This record gives sequence, structure tokens and C-alpha cells, in this order.
Amino acid sequence: MKKLFELVWNCVGRSTSEREADPSGTADGAEIADTPAPKPPPDLPLFYMLSHLEKDGPVRLDGVKVGVCEVMGLEIDEPKLGSFAGALNALDFPVQLLIRQHQPRLGQLRRKLKYAQPANLTAQTEAASESLRRLLKELESRDGILDRRFYAVCEFPRVDELRGLLSRTGLSVHHLTGRQLKMFFVSTALGGSPSTMDEDLQVEVEMHRHHVRVGETLVRSLQLGKWPRSLSPGFLQGLMAAGAPMDLSIHLGAIPTDQAARTLEWQKVRFESAQSLSFKRGRSMSPEAEIALEDVTRLRDQVQRGRERLFHASLSVTLHAKDEKTLREMTQRAKAHFAATLGKLDNLSFRQREGLMSTLPLALNAVGVWRTLDTSSLMRIFPFSPPDMDTRSGTLYGIDMRACAPVVYDPWDGTHLNANTAVLARSGSGKSFSTKLGVLRGICRGVTAYVIDPEGEYADMARAAGGRVLSPGVPGQGMNPFVIDKGDSEEMLQRIGSLRRLIEVMVGEKLSADRRASLDHALAGYYSTPRKRTGFRDFYTYLQEDENGDPGLAHLLRPFATGSLRHLLSDEGDDLLGNEALVTVFDLRLLEPELRPAAAMVCTETVWAAAAQDPKPRLLVVDEVWSIMQHPEGAAFMVSMAKRARKHRLGLQFITQDVQDLLSEDTSRAITGHSGRALLQNAAFKLLLQQDAAAVGTVGDAFDLPEELQRWLLSCPRGDGLLLALGNRFPIRIEATPEETEVIEWRPGSHRKA
Ligand SMILES: Nc1ncnc2c1ncn2[C@@H]1O[C@H](COP(=O)(O)OP(=O)(O)OP(=O)(O)O)[C@@H](O)[C@H]1O
Ligand SMILES: [Mg+2]
Repeated sequence: MKKLFELVWNCVGRSTSEREADPSGTADGAEIADTPAPKPPPDLPLFYMLSHLEKDGPVRLDGVKVGVCEVMGLEIDEPKLGSFAGALNALDFPVQLLIRQHQPRLGQLRRKLKYAQPANLTAQTEAASESLRRLLKELESRDGILDRRFYAVCEFPRVDELRGLLSRTGLSVHHLTGRQLKMFFVSTALGGSPSTMDEDLQVEVEMHRHHVRVGETLVRSLQLGKWPRSLSPGFLQGLMAAGAPMDLSIHLGAIPTDQAARTLEWQKVRFESAQSLSFKRGRSMSPEAEIALEDVTRLRDQVQRGRERLFHASLSVTLHAKDEKTLREMTQRAKAHFAATLGKLDNLSFRQREGLMSTLPLALNAVGVWRTLDTSSLMRIFPFSPPDMDTRSGTLYGIDMRACAPVVYDPWDGTHLNANTAVLARSGSGKSFSTKLGVLRGICRGVTAYVIDPEGEYADMARAAGGRVLSPGVPGQGMNPFVIDKGDSEEMLQRIGSLRRLIEVMVGEKLSADRRASLDHALAGYYSTPRKRTGFRDFYTYLQEDENGDPGLAHLLRPFATGSLRHLLSDEGDDLLGNEALVTVFDLRLLEPELRPAAAMVCTETVWAAAAQDPKPRLLVVDEVWSIMQHPEGAAFMVSMAKRARKHRLGLQFITQDVQDLLSEDTSRAITGHSGRALLQNAAFKLLLQQDAAAVGTVGDAFDLPEELQRWLLSCPRGDGLLLALGNRFPIRIEATPEETEVIEWRPGSHRKA
């Protein structure tokens, strides 16, 4: 029995010089003098060729220290290929590129979710929350879901150079150190991606002719013996998409230019002499030989001009499986992939250890088979890969169908520009469904949610989740957006501005410049004097009593104070703010459609007041946002809200099916796409579900989507869509468990029963 962890653990954080200076093998010899002498070195170091692990890199048995960088995936395109070729041409030291794909471990995310779950969930919500954790567990072993990571390894003194080269090609590079490095090394040695490390784990290694058994895992290494004739861009992607857990390693070493030119010159001479020999014998040259001669001549010219270089390259694959049958299947799949491109994977009989070592992050091609490639071929095998959106924090939003990874993020974790999401899609495409799912998964981890619901679609769900449903306009359910926390003068100014816009939308007409100025003045005057409680009716009284003010203002606002709309606003705002429910739905169905925008703004403003008083992750969903955006003042209000939301950790989610209206450039209308676009610019996340044919062009232009994605958005099934975030596009499938569907499914006709 050998403890791999012992090897990795005990050595971390110790530099080579310390080890040399301290023959006892303990770092602080004097302090722990009475610890027993170290055990004889286990055989594992020999097996893995690893001397020990330092804080910033593993040290091989031959004393060479290497550095490991994690490289983030990049989408492949011609400019990126070009700049990668440039980096290759500048490379003058050996590099190992390592791609690891394994089933994701989501245990930590599950634990975090469980820990964050509020205690006061209803039984039904709790069941839904538990079912999400089950879904995450199921995803770990679901076919085709893989966690794919890229690494670049080189000898330690060149790490900075390597980082520089890769960053210049637009890749983000991160040097692995400390615990991350340890985790990484252990997972490459044992296979898989262990998220929890058992320090006492005993590992036994057993060598076989065609595989190695490491602990419970069967490991088989293969070597690319015959390379495909021509390499297409991203030719490794197909192999990786085959879905098998594997480690794939490419070792590269640049051949010095003069040597490369000499070799090519020699080859050219060889071909030419063969040619003249054939001519002498009265035969013409075979087409293959002619092409080869042309190729060699061209390549020699390119090498001499510095546009191409030659490299030694080698590719090995290590597969991991739980049993022999799976291992056999995976081997066949991998071999079939290369066979399709006329390449051939060799078995490495009796050389499994060398194969395995070549795929460890040791910058060591232990198999020792090399093939010569030029820059253009090599740049094509660069493991460009779809980036994924699996940040392991927050909650599950869907499955990334291209990167085959879960989409997991937390809009409130502070790493995003804001926590806002825009959902744009045609009617019936699942906008409300995905939003309700987001609300439900949010409340299951303590994100308080508010929904402005013009159609009464969310009420059932809120009741099922133990939340409350308010109907603004109904007696006793009024709201008080006029509460202002007077602490911050800038906040105060902004709130006065949004109250002014709210009043403009409330009165339903554009105020003259004069009147607008008096309103502004009145609001400022009202808030400048200390008051016990601020509220609409109080403000209304102030307007009436204000002798210097504009008497017309009070008149315009009369319906909200004493008329038919008197229940919309109240002076009792503390109720909503003081005891927040997990989810609150503002059901606007009972209001006249022309009053809904004002009501929606009242609700938004009230939630904002709550957020300003006690900032914490909150989600505010505004369904049918277009109804508010139609009014220039409403549009200005929403845009300013979207800009400010981040300040108080409020995440806005706007939903609209009127994509064209929102984005239209038609300047003849009162409101143009300008504010629609501004709203979108202030959403760090955009979810595009199925689009209709009339709108897809506008969407495509607005988000710069290629034709094929636009076509896909026309026909994708309900629940599928495109998530735009962090500058990338993720094709996403939104999947709810049966328990979650139960909570969120809106049943027509049933929303009045409670
Ligand atoms: N991801 C999904 N998984 C399963 N079913 C879904 C999914 N998305 C939508 N559906 C189904 O489609 C129906 C319609 O979806 P939803 O009500 O969310 O559409 P919508 O885009 O909000 O439509 P509208 O514009 O009319 O409000 C839902 O009732 C649900 O049954
Ligand atoms: Mg809807």
C-alpha cells in the first residue's frame, strides 16, 4: 500500500534548496527533531516520476521542476488561429498542452445549496429544492456531461514566458499553486476530478499489459502512432465531444530554424534527385512525389522567411474507466475517431506506465515517439474549445449543450457587472417558465424574489412556495414608494428623480417643462424637512398646502389621493419592507391596462426602497417590460433602475416578447429602440429563447449572432435558448425536475382558488 497523498502532502511548500539543505527530509529539522526518521520513499514516486510537489510546481525525480498553468477555453475562429500560430512561432522551449475532461463533481455545490436553504420553506418547495440537488447528483454521471479543463505545462523557469505568450493570443492563463496544484496533480494521477481529498487514501498501483489499475480505476494510455493526413481546425474537439472521460496530452518542442531549414533543404534535394533520375530514365514523376516536392519547397521557403516553424510533436491519450467493459468501449470510440481521419492510435503494450506519465503534468514525453509538424498543422490541433459557464457557485440555470457542462453561476457573487437578466423570446417559448424556475431556485438558496406580474401567471407559484400575492389597487394592499432612507444625498437625488418620473407616468401625460420643474421643486422641498413618516398622501397634503407651488399638480394627482385609484398608494410602506416574504408577486391583472405601467413602477420603486434599506441578494422580475418601456418616462425609469440596481444588490429580470419594439430603430415613434438597447446593455445576462421569424433579424443584429444561430433560434424546442454572458454565447437547455415543475406550472383557471 502506498500513500500518494503522503507524497504530495508532505512535500508541499518546501523548496528544492530546503530539501537539499536538510538531509533528514523534514523541513524544519530543529523544531521537529524528535519526529521519527522519514519512511523509506514509497515506490509511487518512482512510478509517477514525481519527487515532490512544491507550492508552485511539481518536481520530477530527475530534479526538474515544472510549472502548470490553467488555460481558459476559447471559441475557435480564424483570427485566433492566426495569433496562436504567432505564439507558436515565438515558442522556443518545450511545452505540454494537457486537456482533461471528466465527469463533474457537484457535491460541494449541493452542500452549499443545502446550507443556504432557508428554514421556512413550504413542504412542496423543500421537495423541489431537494429534487434540484438530486438532479445535480444525476448530472455527475449523466452521459455526455463533462467538466473540461485545459492546462499548459513547461519547465519552471519558462512559466512566465509561457503565460505571456498565451495571454497575447487572447487566452486567460492562471498559474496553479498551493492547494489548487495539489488537487490538480492528485486528480491527474488518480483520474477523475476529486473535489474532496481524503488524506489517508491508500493507493495501490497494479501494472497490466494494456492498462494500469490505480486504486479502483482502470487507466489505459494510447499513443497517436500515425497522424491524420491533414488536420482540420479543432480536430480534437470531435474526440473530446465523443464524451469519454480522458486526459489528452500534446508535447511540443520547437526545432531550431536553421536545423529545420537544413532538414527541409536536404529533403528537397532528395526529391529533386529522384525527379532527375526519373527524367533520365525517360519516366515522368508520380503525382504524389510532385506534390511532396512542392510542399517541401514551399515549407522551406516559409521556414526561411520565419512564417512557419517545425516542431517535434507527440500526442497521448489516457482513458479512465471503472470496469473493463467500459474501458474497452472507450478505447474503441477513441480509436474510431482517429481512424475516421486516417490516423491511428497505438496500444502501448507493456508501456502503459510511460503512456500514463506522458499525460501527467510533468512536461515529459516518456513514450518518446515524436512526429515532425509545421506551425500550420499544429495550430489546428490547439484545443480550442467552447468556453463553459460552470462557476460552481450560485445555482443551476441549465445545461450547456455545446460544452456539455452544467450552467452554474451566481449573478450576485460580485464578479459580474450587475445581476440583471433580460429574457427575450416569442410568446409561448418558456419565458415565464424559465423565470419561475429561476425564482424558485433562488428562494431555495435565500434570494428574496419580487415579481411584477401583469397576467397573473406567477400567483400560483408564489402561493405554492409560501410567498404572498399582492394586488395593488385593492384596499389594504397599497404600496408606499415614497419612503426614502435619507442617509445618502446622492441616493436621495436619484430617488427624487425616479419619483418624479413615476408621477409623470401616473398622471398619464407629459408634463410641461414648467410643471416638471415645480414637481421637482415640490419633491425636494418635501424631503428637505424632517418628517416622521413619508408617504404619498402626506406628500399630497404638502402639495395642497404649499403656497408657492403649482396648484395644478395636486389637482392632477387627486385620483390617487381621493379618487378611484386611492388604494394603489398607501402610507403604510413598512409592511412590505419590514417583513419580506420569500417571494412576493404583485398581481396587476385587476388593474386597467393603462394603469399597469404606473402600478409596475410603484412596485419597482417600493422594492427599490426595500433594497436601499437592507441590501442583500434580491431578484425583481418585471414581466412584459415593454408595457412600461412604451412611455418615454417609463423607459427612462427602467433604464435608470437597471443602472442603479447593482448598488443595492438587486437583480432585475426583464421579460418581453415584443423584441422588435424594444430594439426597433424606427425614429418616427415617440420611443425608439434607444432605451431598449440601453436596458439590454445594463443586463449582464441575456437569455434568448425561441424567436419568431419577424424578430430574429433584429435580435441577430442587436447581439451580433451568426446566421446559423439565428436559424437555430427560430426552430429550437421550447426551453432551449442562448444565454449571453461574460462576452460568450452558451446554448442552454433549461430543465426542471418534476417536483419543480409541480411548483411552477401555471394552470389556467386555477389562479383564483386561493
Ligand atoms: N424548460 C421547459 N421545460 C418544460 N416545459 C416548458 C419549459 N419551458 C416552457 N415549458 C412549457 O411551455 C409552456 C409555456 O411556457 P411559458 O408560459 O413560460 O411561455 P411564455 O414565453 O411565458 O409565454 P407568454 O409570452 O405567452 O407569456 C409552459 O406552461 C410549460 O408547460
Ligand atoms: Mg409568460
